[in-house]
Amino acid sequence: VTRTPFIAGNWKMNLDHLQAVALVQKLHWTLRDAKHESGSVEVALFPPFTDLRPVQTLIDADKIPFALGAQDISTHDSGAYTGEVSGQFLAKLDVSYVIIGHSERREYHHEGDDIVAAKTQAALRHGLVPVICVGETAADLEEYGASAVPVKQLGIALEGLSADADIVVAYEPVWAIGSGQAATPEQAQEVAAALRAVIADALGVDAAARTRILYGGSVKSSNIASFLREPDVDGALVGGASLVADEFAAIIRFQK
Ligand code: G3H
Repeated sequence: VTRTPFIAGNWKMNLDHLQAVALVQKLHWTLRDAKHESGSVEVALFPPFTDLRPVQTLIDADKIPFALGAQDISTHDSGAYTGEVSGQFLAKLDVSYVIIGHSERREYHHEGDDIVAAKTQAALRHGLVPVICVGETAADLEEYGASAVPVKQLGIALEGLSADADIVVAYEPVWAIGSGQAATPEQAQEVAAALRAVIADALGVDAAARTRILYGGSVKSSNIASFLREPDVDGALVGGASLVADEFAAIIRFQK
């Protein structure tokens, strides 16, 4: 099975809709200039909800080969849930992916593994691919090593899913996010291999072979190659560096 490398740009709570459109135009221009080969890498952008419609309109009109993702999803499909956004609304906007269980939501919004599992199921109900984020804190790393916490988190998220569920997994050590201190490629590989074993246990070996596992945490154009060289790392979930057109374009241009 060949897994197409996947580069995801999580903008977090940055860029209003005018800035969003400007960044996508600049990215497209930069990549077109560099003869970016489409098809060899899949690129997805995860803007704030308020940017989804203008970005979708732009990538549609200019045939820009980027997929669209959302940063969160409601566990519910519709109803009296003020402030929540349903997966069915996202699907209608041509959103393909949704980040679930990002450590910032786990920490600041107290989302536990049960919420992560419910959101994973909500995404799949609406034909969206969940990008399930797992990762250990610095304290976890010291106490249990790198793999134990991410393995436990992913196991809960995958409970009850069918063998053909289309998912992406992102390993993001919490201490590496926005810190400038990325994990070593060896650690990313060790945990990615452990996560692939979790997928094999929960969904079977075929699912484990086809599911893409990303590394996230201080990814830059200068270290992307070292991660993608690892056999079980299939791409990156990029935060800060995805906000800078030249830098994100350089990450995308990297070929495994
Ligand atoms: O979702 C992205 C990650 O949290 C990584 O963020 O690239 O700014 O470290 P970062």
